[in-house]
Amino acid sequence: MNILITGGAGLIGMAARQTLAAAGHAVTAIDITDFGRGDKELHIVGLDDRDALDMLIRGKSIDAIVHCGAISGPMMAQGQPLKIVSVNIDATALLLDLARVHAMKRFVFCSSISVYGNAGSVAINEETQLHPTSVYGASKVACEQLVEGFAAEYGLDGVSLRIGRVYGPYRRANCILNDIIRDASAGRKTTIPCDPDFIYHYVHVDDVAAAIAAVLVAPAFPRRTYNVGAGEPLTMPKIADIAARAIDGTDIVLAPGADDVPDIQTEFDVSRIGKDIGWRPRLPLSAGLKAYRDAILAGRSA
Ligand SMILES: NC(=O)c1ccc[n+]([C@@H]2O[C@H](COP(=O)([O-])OP(=O)(O)OC[C@H]3O[C@@H](n4cnc5c(N)ncnc54)[C@H](O)[C@@H]3O)[C@@H](O)[C@H]2O)c1
Repeated sequence: MNILITGGAGLIGMAARQTLAAAGHAVTAIDITDFGRGDKELHIVGLDDRDALDMLIRGKSIDAIVHCGAISGPMMAQGQPLKIVSVNIDATALLLDLARVHAMKRFVFCSSISVYGNAGSVAINEETQLHPTSVYGASKVACEQLVEGFAAEYGLDGVSLRIGRVYGPYRRANCILNDIIRDASAGRKTTIPCDPDFIYHYVHVDDVAAAIAAVLVAPAFPRRTYNVGAGEPLTMPKIADIAARAIDGTDIVLAPGADDVPDIQTEFDVSRIGKDIGWRPRLPLSAGLKAYRDAILAGRSA
C-alpha cells in the first residue's frame, strides 16, 4: 500500500515508518519538525495545511493514512485546551475528509487508553463506558466518533487503536523507564515517587507499530475500536523488580508519591484485536526494556 504517516518524527510515527517500510509498503511521512535530526525522508507539513496534504496524497497515490500526529498526551499543551481541540480534532477531521475525497482503502487512528478515564477496578474492554478525565482524552473520544461517522456515512474503512502507555526510542515526554535506563548506564540511583498499588499499562512502541501494520492489511475488522497494550498490568515495585533483572546497574528507590497520570485503570483487556485480527503483543516489559536500552545506547532517542 502507499501509506501516509502523520506525526512521522514522533515516537509511534518513527517506529511505524520502519515497520511498514520493512513490510513492503511505500511510506510517506509528514511532521511539523524533524527535531533537528536532518531527516531527509520526512516531509515538513502542518496537519492543518489541506493544500499541501492534498498535493502529497495525489503525488504519492496514497491509499491509506496512519494518523499519529497530535498533541500526544494529557501532559502536553497543558493550559491550552483549544490547541488540543484544533490539533487533535480538527486535523483528524481534515485527514478523514481527505481520505474520503481520495477514496482511500483504510484510515488508522491512534487513540488512547485515556478515553476510559478513571475506570478504577472495572476491567476495561472495548465495551467499557468512556469517561475521559482530560481535554486530551476527550479529544480522542471525539476523533473516534469521527472515524465511526465517516465509516457509517461515507464507507471510509477506519479503525481506532486505544493504545496504552508507550515507551521506546524517540519518546520525548517524561518516561520513568527512560530514567531507569539512563541512570543505570550512568551509575546513578533512580528515585521514583509512586503509589505502590498503582497499575501501569506499558507497551513497547514496536508492538504498537506491529498492531498498526496488522490492522492496515486485515481483510476486514468487525469493530472500529481495539485496545492495544502489552497485556501486562504492573505496579511500580514489580516494574522495579523486572528492571533490576533486565538492566545491569539498575538501582531504584521507591518513594511515597503519585503518578503523573491520575487515571486508575486496573485491568486493560487487549485480547479482542488478537481474536479479530491476529495481532498479539510480543514484548513483555523485560524484553522491551532491553530493546529500549539498546536503542538508547545506539543513539536512537529523542
Ligand atoms: N505515547 C503514548 O504513550 C501514547 C499513548 C496512547 C496514544 N498515543 C497517541 O499516539 C499518537 C502518536 O503519539 P506519540 O507518542 O508518537 O507522540 P509524539 O508526540 O512523539 O508524536 C506526535 C507527533 O505529532 C507532531 N505534530 C504535533 N502537532 C502537529 C501539527 N500541527 N502538524 C504536524 N505534526 C504535528 C509532533 O511534532 C510529533 O512528532 C498520538 O495521537 C497520541 O495521542 C500515544
